[in-house]
Amino acid sequence: MVSSVVRLLLMVQLLLAMAATDEALDTGYYAATCPDAEAIVRNAMERLHYTDPTLAPAVIRLLFHDCFVRGCDASVLIVPTPRYSSERAAVPNHTLRGFGAVDAVKRALEAACPAAVSCADALALMARDAVALLGGNRYDVALGRRDGTQSNPWEVDLPAPFARLDDVLAYFAARGFSAEETVVLFGAHTVGGAHCSSFRYRLTMPDGAMDETLRCDMLDTCGAADLPLDTDPATFFDPDTPFTVDNNYYAQLMSNRTLLQVDQEAATHPDTAPHVAYYAASPDAFMQRFSEAMAKLSNVGVLEGDAGEVRKVCSRYNN
Ligand code: HEM
Repeated sequence: MVSSVVRLLLMVQLLLAMAATDEALDTGYYAATCPDAEAIVRNAMERLHYTDPTLAPAVIRLLFHDCFVRGCDASVLIVPTPRYSSERAAVPNHTLRGFGAVDAVKRALEAACPAAVSCADALALMARDAVALLGGNRYDVALGRRDGTQSNPWEVDLPAPFARLDDVLAYFAARGFSAEETVVLFGAHTVGGAHCSSFRYRLTMPDGAMDETLRCDMLDTCGAADLPLDTDPATFFDPDTPFTVDNNYYAQLMSNRTLLQVDQEAATHPDTAPHVAYYAASPDAFMQRFSEAMAKLSNVGVLEGDAGEVRKVCSRYNN
């Protein structure tokens, strides 16, 4: 009883924060202080993308891991030091990539307009450009986020790939996302890939929910034995078009050909199955909704006004 009251209060607080956010952020926020900010980020992302196409999916994931823990405040970017740990030390963040790219983009921004553009805004813009570079619809990003001054590993409560979907839906709902929006955001798993450690147990202890041909193929790729992360093989979620935002992911779910257990459950759970079927059949609707959901993701629990700071280097606090 007490815990449900606390949960309700937290939810109300979060919704109020999000409502305030939408009004305060502004697409013209840097018009005076860094008018070329969006072009600087886009040019840098284009250059990075053409040398490494795996970067754009990594940046989309970075945004998710940032925004769902303490809001979109760049807290995920802080490097742990021997004295102070940070979100990056938490298990779900061990496989995050793209930190060097954020630093490179931030350096370009600092060279043009010192101390103006926050790392949280830079990451939100990078993720928007990542979606566009992968063929997704472009969306507007309202700006004015500030960078957080706290990053704690124990606050990283991101769901595991084997989480029950009921719990995941409650977790997304607490951040303002409906079951439909959650299904749409899961669609990000149409790009990039996963290390075998995220799903190897599904190969060696089959639960019947994975297509048998995929299971055998993945067993060939991954092997049955656990490996340290740096030698663990990785494989694409959508091997036909791993660098294209498209609705293939939903067709894969419907034919039991997806790697992560929690994704697969979305194909059969009563709150999500109709959305999975709809987006499998409606490519244009998916593209539209994916961009809208990404824009909404970039606004979760942001800091604004005088809160936090504008970091000079994204991987460490100013002081
Ligand atoms: C219950 C929710 C989710 C779980 C459990 C989950 C889990 C994972 C896991 C285990 C990986 C593979 C990491 C690796 O082994 O290298 C991954 C990759 C990825 N995730 Fe998620 N994810 C979730 C939701 C999301 C959301 C909401 C987004 C974005 C909107 C997202 C975007 C991505 C992307 C783009 C990749 C590929 C990254 C790369 O290629 O480096 N995920 N996710």
